[in-house]
Amino acid sequence: MKVLITGGYGFIGSHVTERFYKEGYEIYIIDNLSTGDKDHVKIKHKFYELDVIDSKCQEVFSNVKFDVVIHLAAHIDAVASVEKPSFDATANILGLINMLELSSKYDVKKFILASSAAVYGSNEEIPLIEDTSLNPISPYGVSKLTGENYCKLWKNTYGLETVCLRFSNVYGPRQSVKGEGGVVAVFMNNLFLEKELCIYGTGEQTRDFIYVEDVVDAIYKSCDYSYSDVINVSVDTQYSLINLIDAIKNVHGDTDFRHEQLRKGDILHSRLSNKRAKKELNWTPLYTLNKGIFKTYKWYEEYFKEKNLAKDKNHYNKEHENLEKDEKKKRTYSKDSCHILKIY
Ligand SMILES: NC(=O)c1ccc[n+]([C@@H]2O[C@H](COP(=O)([O-])OP(=O)(O)OC[C@H]3O[C@@H](n4cnc5c(N)ncnc54)[C@H](O)[C@@H]3O)[C@@H](O)[C@H]2O)c1
Repeated sequence: MKVLITGGYGFIGSHVTERFYKEGYEIYIIDNLSTGDKDHVKIKHKFYELDVIDSKCQEVFSNVKFDVVIHLAAHIDAVASVEKPSFDATANILGLINMLELSSKYDVKKFILASSAAVYGSNEEIPLIEDTSLNPISPYGVSKLTGENYCKLWKNTYGLETVCLRFSNVYGPRQSVKGEGGVVAVFMNNLFLEKELCIYGTGEQTRDFIYVEDVVDAIYKSCDYSYSDVINVSVDTQYSLINLIDAIKNVHGDTDFRHEQLRKGDILHSRLSNKRAKKELNWTPLYTLNKGIFKTYKWYEEYFKEKNLAKDKNHYNKEHENLEKDEKKKRTYSKDSCHILKIY
C-alpha cells in the first residue's frame, strides 16, 4: 500500500509517516519545506520538494498509484491569515483543489483532509458537535471550512472517498512555536531557554489539548472506514491553562510564570465532542494530559541537550578556528619580522 503525505515534514506529518511506515505502507512525501524540516523524518521514504499547487504534482500522481492521500500541507497560522488572506487561500484552497483533482483522476481510494476546530470560530457551545453552526472568525478558519466543502463536492461529484478530520489543539514532539495550538510548544521552548512562562488572563480558559499520537491513530483508523464526512478528533475534555502548567510542573518541578491581561478576541473555552470519532472510527484517545506532556517534555529535553551540545561544539570549533588564525597571524608576523630584519 502506498500513502502520499502532503506536509509530511511538518509536526503532525512526521508522526503520520512513522505510524504508516510501521503499519507497512510505502511512504511518499510532498512538502515545500516552508515550515517543515527534513530531519523530522528518519524512516525510509520518497520525497518530492513541491508546493501542493504546483502542476508538477501531476507527474508524482501519474508515476505512483497512491492508495491513500493524507493532506496536511497548509498555511497554519490563523493570525498571519488575517494579514495575508490570499496567501492562506492559495495554499489551503487552491492547493487542496489540486490534490483533490489529482486524487480523483488517479483513482486514490481514500483522501483525508486535516481540518480544524477553527471552523467553529466564535461558537462557544460546549461540547462542539460536528453539526452545530460554523462561524469561522479568521481567513484560516474559512479556508478550512471551504476545504471541507470541496471534499464533500468531490465525494458527491466524482466519487472520491474523502474524510475531513477536525483536530482540536494538537501538541507533542517537533511542534513549532508558530501556528495552531502552539501554547505547549511555546511553554516547552521557554522552559528550556529559561524564559518565564506567560499566561493571558487567569489561566482558567480551557482548550481541548490532544496528543499527536492520538491524532495519528485517528488518521490511520479513518483509512479503513467507509465513513465520508467531517469528524472531530479531540479528547472531549476541557483542560485549563492551569491544568497545563500543573502537568508541566509534574515533570519539570516548580516553574515560574506570570499573568498578562487576556488578549482581545481570545476564545475562553473550547471542547469538541468526540462521540462521532469513537463510533465511526472505533477510536479513542489514549493520552491523558499528564502522559502527553511527560512525553513531550522528554523530547524537548533531549532536543535542547543536543542543540546545546552542537552549540558548544560549534563554539569550541570557532574558538579553535580563532586560535589557529591567531597562531597563523603570529607565524606570518614572525616570518615578516624575519624578512624585515633581513632587509634592514
Ligand atoms: N497543530 C495543530 O494543533 C492543528 C490543529 C488543527 C489542524 N491542524 C492542521 O494539521 C495540518 C498539519 O499541521 P502542523 O501543525 O503539522 O503544521 P506544520 O506547519 O508543522 O506542517 C505543515 C507542513 O506542510 C508543509 N507545507 C505548507 N504549505 C505547503 C504547500 N503549499 N505545499 C507543500 N507543502 C506545504 C510545511 O513545510 C510543513 O512541512 C495542517 O493542515 C493544519 O491546518 C493542525
